[in-house]
Amino acid sequence: MAVLLLFFLAFHFSRSISTLAQFLPATRLRESGCGGFVVSVVDYGAVGDGRRYDTWAIQAAIDECAAMGGGRVRFPAGRDYLTATVVLRSRVVLEVEKGARILGGTREEDYPADAARWYVVLAENATGAGITGGGEINGQGEAFVVRRDPRKNVMVSWNRTGACLGDECRPRLVGFIDSKDVRIWDITLNQPAYWCLHLVRCDNTLIHDISIYGDFDSPNNDGIDIEDSNNTVITRCHIDTGDDAICPKSSTGPVYNLTATDCWIRTKSSAIKLGSASWFDFRRFFFNNIDIVDSHRGLGMQIRDGGNVNDIVFSNIRISTRYYDPSWWGRAEPIYITTCPRDSNSKAGSISNVLFVNISATSENGAFLSGSGGGLLRNLRFENVQLTYRRTTRYPGGLYDYRPGCQGLVPHRMGGIMMEHVSGLEIENVKMRWIKSNSRGWNNPLEFTPSTVNKLSFHEWLSDVS
Ligand SMILES: *[C@@H]1O[C@H](CO)[C@@H](O)[C@H](O)[C@H]1NC(C)=O
Ligand SMILES: *[C@@H]1O[C@H](CO)[C@@H](O)[C@H](O)[C@H]1NC(C)=O
Ligand SMILES: *[C@@H]1O[C@H](CO)[C@@H](O)[C@H](O)[C@H]1NC(C)=O
Ligand SMILES: *[C@@H]1O[C@H](CO)[C@@H](O)[C@H](O)[C@H]1NC(C)=O
Ligand SMILES: *[C@@H]1O[C@H](CO)[C@@H](O)[C@H](O)[C@H]1NC(C)=O
Repeated sequence: MAVLLLFFLAFHFSRSISTLAQFLPATRLRESGCGGFVVSVVDYGAVGDGRRYDTWAIQAAIDECAAMGGGRVRFPAGRDYLTATVVLRSRVVLEVEKGARILGGTREEDYPADAARWYVVLAENATGAGITGGGEINGQGEAFVVRRDPRKNVMVSWNRTGACLGDECRPRLVGFIDSKDVRIWDITLNQPAYWCLHLVRCDNTLIHDISIYGDFDSPNNDGIDIEDSNNTVITRCHIDTGDDAICPKSSTGPVYNLTATDCWIRTKSSAIKLGSASWFDFRRFFFNNIDIVDSHRGLGMQIRDGGNVNDIVFSNIRISTRYYDPSWWGRAEPIYITTCPRDSNSKAGSISNVLFVNISATSENGAFLSGSGGGLLRNLRFENVQLTYRRTTRYPGGLYDYRPGCQGLVPHRMGGIMMEHVSGLEIENVKMRWIKSNSRGWNNPLEFTPSTVNKLSFHEWLSDVS
């Protein structure tokens, strides 16, 4: 009987920010119900030529494996298995061997009628399902590009039938909905047409040793979206994609206990982003030992719908951010913490108890800490933070980016740290270093309106031009 690792977060949280640094995730082992049954999709008729659909063979193998009490469904190496949506079941683990690829179909009829279930691989109400094997699941995202544009590709939208509205109607790659004890490891998720790995109302998910690649110029190809899900551990991931890389969202319920550690990320959007769907709370997140390279934003919170954020730690993170085309949200902020009402029907949530410790960043713009009238930023702490400001591109600066919604893009003078509607910011050993530039407003350490910013405390703070 296989052993499924389940990581539980044993954060000893307290409202006091000084104790936030003490939390560390602990691990606990639990037996899963996964049986030892192993089947190969080839034995169920899969041809693996990348042209003919293997959907029925794959589904038959999964269903029989599930009926036998669970086990592994193997995709032998050296072949491409083209498929419409397949449904993963409890205690079944897909084993895509190194050198094998599952290819997602590129026709609308390859996906279910309900657009909320447009995934290449989908599990729903499953316990102990998983994906591994060293191989690849590929969404053939390039087939969804209508027009290539190095600023931002134009994508197809399957919105003609009304199954889905707007311009974001494309299938996701892998989805787990209402599932427990999911484990995804040792797998490459490649070229999603839309979001890549999506958890919806899941509990106890372990994701480790995975790589995600999305087209750098395509929108909405998020890395991992953790929606309305609790107790998620992500470790040893490599994510290189156009849109947000690790992105918790709350639409129908809160997100509790998320840790992401030992990751490498490059994105034309935010490396880490809470929101923007933020109807419910985000609590107890821990991000540690992460490298963020050449990204549009580093650590982000885009709270827009009234949910509150509490008890978040970012530690040991190295960041480089730069400007990209302004059609992408982001203004090269290494740290971007914002809450404002999306529109006139929305509330602003609050963001409290956020610790940044051992962070070093090189960026073209400053950190942006922006609460709003109804939603304060409370109790933020920067400890051992080195911020280096260096201009590397020719994109103009001088804009605050409140998108989506809120005030949109607003011309504003830049600063090393920009603040508004903040109550409680502790600075302990923060060094700003400015590499000379002719940009307007360069070398301005702090930009804020005192009437909205309270309880600032500075210990060992240096700003220096070299
Ligand atoms: C979050 O983790 C803590 C510590 O392990 C645990 O006590 C709590 O029940 C978890 N929360 C949820 C919603 O599972
Ligand atoms: C999942 O469970 C819910 C609640 O029990 C049920 O309404 C839904 O039909 C189930 N979905 C599937 C695909 O089994
Ligand atoms: C359908 O998608 C196209 C292309 O993105 C977009 O221009 C159009 O507004 C969308 N139509 C509807 C009804 O959502
Ligand atoms: C997550 O935990 C919260 C708080 O206990 C709970 O309200 C919510 O239903 C949980 N979500 C899931 C998917 O288990
Ligand atoms: C921050 O870095 C210092 C020096 O490397 C280390 O001793 C300390 O444990 C780190 N703090 C955290 C919270 O990781």
